Order: sequence, then C-alpha cells, then structure tokens
Amino acid sequence: MKISIIGQGYVGLNLAMAIPSHHEIVGYDVNPELVTRLLGGNSHIEGIASEDLSLKVSNGSYIPTSDSSLITDSEIIVIAVPTPLDANRQPDLSYVRSACLTIASVMRSKVLVINESTSYPGTLRDLIKPLIEENSFSSSLFEYAVSPERVDPGSKSWNLFNTPRLYSGLTPEASNKAKEFYSSFCKELHEVSSPEIAEAAKLFENTFRQVNIALVNEFAQIAHALGISVYETLDAADTKPYGFMKFLPGAGVGGHCIPVDPSYLSETASKLGVPARFIDLANETNLYMADYVIARITADNPPNLEGRKIQLIGVAYKPNVADTRETPAIRLIERLRGAGADVTWHDPLVSSWKGETSSALGGADIAILVTRHQVISEKAIIASSPYVFDTTGTLTGTPSL
Ligand SMILES: NC(=O)c1ccc[n+]([C@@H]2O[C@H](COP(=O)([O-])OP(=O)(O)OC[C@H]3O[C@@H](n4cnc5c(N)ncnc54)[C@H](O)[C@@H]3O)[C@@H](O)[C@H]2O)c1
Repeated sequence: MKISIIGQGYVGLNLAMAIPSHHEIVGYDVNPELVTRLLGGNSHIEGIASEDLSLKVSNGSYIPTSDSSLITDSEIIVIAVPTPLDANRQPDLSYVRSACLTIASVMRSKVLVINESTSYPGTLRDLIKPLIEENSFSSSLFEYAVSPERVDPGSKSWNLFNTPRLYSGLTPEASNKAKEFYSSFCKELHEVSSPEIAEAAKLFENTFRQVNIALVNEFAQIAHALGISVYETLDAADTKPYGFMKFLPGAGVGGHCIPVDPSYLSETASKLGVPARFIDLANETNLYMADYVIARITADNPPNLEGRKIQLIGVAYKPNVADTRETPAIRLIERLRGAGADVTWHDPLVSSWKGETSSALGGADIAILVTRHQVISEKAIIASSPYVFDTTGTLTGTPSL
C-alpha cells in the first residue's frame, strides 16, 4: 500500500518510521532543506536514529520529497502539519488549509485522508472535507478520518506502538480503513463515534494538564505564603490512593501541546457562546509564573535586578530533551531583560537558540534552574552561582517555588 504523510516534523517523521516497511511511504514536506537532510539519512527528531532513517531511505521504503506529484496514487494520506496559534493567540489553520489544497490538486484515485494534526472539533467535517472537495477534480475520490497524535517527545515508556490510538471516520467505511491502517503498527485502538469526539478528546487531554498545572502553580504561591513546602505537601496529598493525581509546579508550561491546544478549545467554546473561564484563567496563571519567580528572586536579592548577572539553567521546556518550543524560559528571559538584568543561559542539550549560544555554567550572581536535565549534576548547579533559585523542586537547600 502507498501511504503519504504531509509534514515530516515530530509527528510525521515518527509516523513514517513506525509504519511497517512493506508499505511504500512518501514523506512530503514543503521545506526542501529538511527533505535534503532526510534524503541524506539525517534525522532531525530526538528518538529517531539516523541509522534507521538511512536504512529506510536506502531500501526505498521511505521516500522524503517536496514534490507533491509523488503522493498522487496514495491509498492513504495523513496530514501532520503544524496547528499553532497566531499573533493574537487564535488558532492558525493555514498549514492544514495548504495541505488540503495540495491533496486536492494531485489526487486522481480513491484515498483515505486522515488528519493527525491537533485542531478543534469539526475541523475534519467542516474544514478539511469541504476544502478538498471544492478544489479537487472529483469529490467522490475521498474518504476522511481523524486520529489525533499523542506522541510524548522524549518519553522512553510511551511510543506510537503502545499509546492507545483514538480514531473515527466520517463514514463507517472510512473508520474501517483507518482501523486496518493503524492496527498494522498500533497495539491498542479505540474507535469513537464521531471525528468530533476524537478531536475534542485530544484537546481535553491537554487542557486537563494545563488546568491542573495552573492549580498547582497557584498552590505553590499559597504554600510559600504559608511558609510550608509545596513539594512536601504534594507528596503528602499523593499518599491518598484514590481521587488525587500529582502535578508539579514550575516556571510555566511549554512544549507543543499544553500552551497551545487549550486555546483551540477555548476558541471553540467562545464561538458557541460558552465561557471557558477555567481554560483562560489557567493560561493566565501559568503565564504569570515568570513574574512570580522574578518577584521571589527580587525579594531575596533587593532592591532590584538591574545590572545583575543572571543565568538560566535548562531552557528546553522539559527535562532531557533539546526541545525549546514555547518554553517558559522565553518569558523569563524577556521579563528579566526588561528589568535590566544581564541574562545568559546554559543548556547542555540546546547549543544554540534564538540566535544565542549556551554559555558555560556559572559566572553569574543569580542562577535560575528552569529545567533539570540529568546530565547536569545537582552539585554543579548549586555551585554555579552564589544564589540559585530552583523552579523544579529537584535541588536540596536552595530557595525554590
Ligand atoms: N510535537 C508533538 O509533540 C505533538 C504531539 C501531538 C500532536 N501534535 C500535533 O501534530 C501536528 C504536527 O506537529 P509537529 O510537532 O509534527 O510539527 P513540526 O513543526 O515538527 O512539523 C511540521 C512539518 O510540516 C511541514 N509543513 C508545514 N506546512 C506544510 C504543508 N502545507 N505541506 C507539507 N508540509 C508542511 C513543516 O515544514 C514541518 O516540517 C500539530 O497539529 C501538533 O499540534 C504534535
């Protein structure tokens, strides 16, 4: 079977590598430099070994390309393009739209189009289907399904094979084809009764994390005002064997999903006239953490941070990965520089970022541990500066959230 994947980023390349190689897999991406890199067998995604990629490229089971004509006779096309927020924090579906126009322009035979990009409920039915059909030479070629991706970057425990896969087609035939496709490389499938349920479930999963992280971030502030340890309190609450799930406070939320997906749900709610107060408040609370951390550091280092040398340690959004997307370090750096501080950052996994390079550990008046990678020892972090503020709860004896 010929399968094409539109978008060869985190989701698309992981999928291309997971599909059994007796299928012919075309990885289409609009970025020609990325395609050249992939053709050379060089992986840009942590967790995908260049050797595995190289093998699939050389034996012809995986064809990276920027030539859309190569997807023409595919039986399955998976959309895995970005769904970010625009400058006004509104859903930006421009990449999905462009992927649909590509599909519409090249397909001449029957195909199942599956959307794996995260988006609001109704995207498959109300945007993807009409857009493809209005621009294609025959609307009868297409069937549609959705299967939101749940990949957890850097996770050693959860992968495409063992993470249960949600799916639903617009018709029973589309659902059956999607089931046949995913069952060839996913252990557990869960069919839902409509694409809207699958789309909404994906948004709700990440909104659940966003809201709970905001709650614990707020609680960290209450605990500090009470003069008690937020971490010990959470550990104590976590001894309850039912009805409690532990989340940890931090300098904010980062990554591709949690800072973004809840806004898709909030926007949908607003269009329906339903207030999404929790989601919006959680977003505000998490964003406020940068200001809170700075207020705590200023209180310990009066009168202000102007001219102070401050080093952020760990700018990736989570431990042990090099991924800086939406990292809370961005807001911290902006706010600290706004306060006149002389800010550098150190991250052994992120050598360069936003036109700056990782500085050597140490040499600042103040260090802020934003993300704790295993490769940096506790001793080295504590010794790096006379004052170290820990936003991760992993150091002993330093000021922390
Ligand atoms: N990264 C994650 O951890 C993760 C997890 C679950 C779901 N998702 C969702 O999956 C989708 C893809 O995310 P990602 O992390 O893979 O994004 P990414 O930015 O890593 O990769 C997207 C790729 O799509 C390409 N692209 C953009 N427009 C295109 C077009 N019209 N045609 C062909 N290629 C195009 C880009 O060049 C890029 O290489 C998003 O909706 C995201 O929310 C991501």
